[in-house]
Amino acid sequence: MRAIGWGTADVAAVAGIEPRGSAAREIDTLWWLLFVLGAVALVLVGAALAAGLARRRDDGSGGPATRREQPDAQESERAARPWLVAGGVVLPLVTIAIVLVATIDSMRSLEARADADALTIDVIGHQWWWEVRYPDAGVVTANEIHIPAATPVRLRLHSADVVHSFWVPELAGKLDLIPERVNELVIDADRPGEYLGRCAEFCGLQHANMPVLVVAHDDAGFRSWLQEQADAAPEPDGAAAEGLTAFLDGGCAACHTISGTSADGERGPDLTHVASRAFIAGGLLEPVGPDLRTWITDPHAVKPGVLMPDPELTPAEIDRIVAYLETLR
Ligand code: CUA
Repeated sequence: MRAIGWGTADVAAVAGIEPRGSAAREIDTLWWLLFVLGAVALVLVGAALAAGLARRRDDGSGGPATRREQPDAQESERAARPWLVAGGVVLPLVTIAIVLVATIDSMRSLEARADADALTIDVIGHQWWWEVRYPDAGVVTANEIHIPAATPVRLRLHSADVVHSFWVPELAGKLDLIPERVNELVIDADRPGEYLGRCAEFCGLQHANMPVLVVAHDDAGFRSWLQEQADAAPEPDGAAAEGLTAFLDGGCAACHTISGTSADGERGPDLTHVASRAFIAGGLLEPVGPDLRTWITDPHAVKPGVLMPDPELTPAEIDRIVAYLETLR
């Protein structure tokens, strides 16, 4: 487990140079086609421009060595016409026609390609975290989306507040999460691995700290992950039991759910298995140890603007809550 900052590796991951899913591969192919066509057109137009400028200098320099008869205007226009037609009509028409056909073809193959019975996951954008729900399994998690590898998975994208945008560049293109509507995106990952994404639409103060992690498992790994996540939180004992009491009495339960307890708030992330996650606080902290203590003590110092209120808890209560939350694997 590690927090996600803006390290070089993370930037490379977000840059997503190598496509790792079929939608990303489709977009990658189209991008290279556009790039090559654009480069060829630029070179051709640049060469024509350079040739034209060189000729003009030749004609107009007036020195004895280069003096030539000024060509008759009509003849010059006739000579230029094929160039105008080729460069001004044929080249753009051919280029745009190729781009149009290729783009329509890509758009068609990027349309939702999952079967009706494909795994469906609801992804809900919040300021500033991702709620992730598996309706069939009754599993709720946050900020990470676990999927089986090599299988198309349907994401239903919702927003709880403002417009966000889901973007995991190694797997697929961007799609917005818009309040009051549902957008569908089908993703697949070629092989098991972690694929880091970001919110790609400015959504407020902590927009930059809104990473989403897609974790692809082999089939057996995914099934066992889902099964573990469907379990209620374990019954705590000792300091952890006191931590649960402090959690419930301290008002945390008004916003957070922990299944198997009376905590059923819905404004913040579900914490049933929070200690099993890669990060909290928009990728800034780990969900255990001193990081977790720092977060509960003063969330606003870590993440200015965060909607979690400063808790009115004593350091001893915070320690017990940390001890409890660390058991939620
Ligand atoms: Cu959510 Cu930017």
